[in-house]
Amino acid sequence: MLTSLKRIFSGAKKLNGEVLVTGGTGFIGSHTVVDLLENGYSVVIVDNLSNSSIKVLDRVKEIVGDGPYENLSFYDVDIRDAEELKKVFSEHAIKSVIHFAGFKAVGESVQKPLEYYDNNIAGTTTLCRVMSENGCKSIIFSSSSTVYGDPDELPLTELSPKKPATNPYGWTKWMIEQILTDLYVADNSWDVVLLRYFNPIGAHESGLIGEDPKGIPNNLVPYIAQTAVGKRSEVHVFGNDYDTPDGTGVRDYIHVVDLAAGHVAALKWMQGKTGVEIFNLGTGAGSSVLEVIKAYGSAVGKEIPFVVEERRSGDIAQNYADASKAQKILGWKAKRSLDDMVKDSWRFQSKNPEGLSD
Ligand code: NAD
Ligand code: UD1
Repeated sequence: MLTSLKRIFSGAKKLNGEVLVTGGTGFIGSHTVVDLLENGYSVVIVDNLSNSSIKVLDRVKEIVGDGPYENLSFYDVDIRDAEELKKVFSEHAIKSVIHFAGFKAVGESVQKPLEYYDNNIAGTTTLCRVMSENGCKSIIFSSSSTVYGDPDELPLTELSPKKPATNPYGWTKWMIEQILTDLYVADNSWDVVLLRYFNPIGAHESGLIGEDPKGIPNNLVPYIAQTAVGKRSEVHVFGNDYDTPDGTGVRDYIHVVDLAAGHVAALKWMQGKTGVEIFNLGTGAGSSVLEVIKAYGSAVGKEIPFVVEERRSGDIAQNYADASKAQKILGWKAKRSLDDMVKDSWRFQSKNPEGLSD
């Protein structure tokens, strides 16, 4: 549903260089907004709250304090609504866009492909058109390691081949990367940064913001978190017969606060440049499902119950990043360990057992 422009509040004045964050009340977006505000940026969030709560804004205020919070504006707007987006651009001097808004549930995307293609792809093309009309051609896009598919070689570098996606969500990431690249080919004044995230988990160390999935979590760590807090009886381990050290899937889990810092580093780096640049954002190390369950249990102080089940269709055995390009060019490196990630996840989950739902 397209909402009318609801400016919940607008603190930021027409300063030189505001940053528009689409999907800024979501999981990764909210942590990035905190980092931006703490770094002195003026931030304009556009989010239709389809997968996040307005309460996130109070939490952001609690974290950053009254002063920096005055540099934040929020619009309850759908990025597919060009007219409403134009109004946002007319009220702010937006210099760059960090584009998180989109649907992200892999299984749901298989059931509802049109919704996913419409929201993610049409949302992005509408956003880019409005940006272009307003002379803003600087965009950071949330891509995913899913574009590498089942890798031939590890670790994955930015030069590793893209593989066909196995679901509509993955295709939207794949295609939006292509669309933004084509945009630059057509108009060399665009500045595009594609950030390929590995597996973001964890929460802000305050326990005030974190991952707050609606319904039954699809991803491993939110599922473990809800099991730890007693909302689910046990974790389902999807296969222990992979060609990995303990047979369970290996992924490169990255702390969401480190991931947020990667966006701020990319934003600083891209100013005044044009082109298309891709960066992997991961730690460079893989952890297995059983290792994550064990680490989470240590953070909670009790074992997390689990059962081993069949492999989940579409899953790969392992992936992890070579993140050296981001270190070399952006000066960014993930700092937090798996123990930090699960400790912070647990702090958020135990402080907010029902999430932030309205
Ligand atoms: P999220 O669902 O928590 O955040 C997305 C936000 O976008 C939500 O607040 C939602 O309300 C908003 N939104 C969705 N459609 C919108 C629309 N049409 N108009 C305005 N707002 C809209 O997801 P997240 O985990 O923070 O992910 C952010 C981005 O990063 C997404 O594009 C996702 O695909 C990508 N990504 C996430 C992961 C992950 O594991 N979380 C991994 C790789 C890439
Ligand atoms: C998934 C998506 C990917 C997306 C990413 C971030 C799939 C196939 N891939 O990555 O496209 O970019 O989320 O949203 O869905 N696991 C369990 N039990 C669970 C959940 C997961 O054992 O209840 C295992 C999985 O088999 C995998 C690991 O945990 O080995 C991580 O799974 P998950 O958190 O869903 O992330 P990915 O599958 O890596």
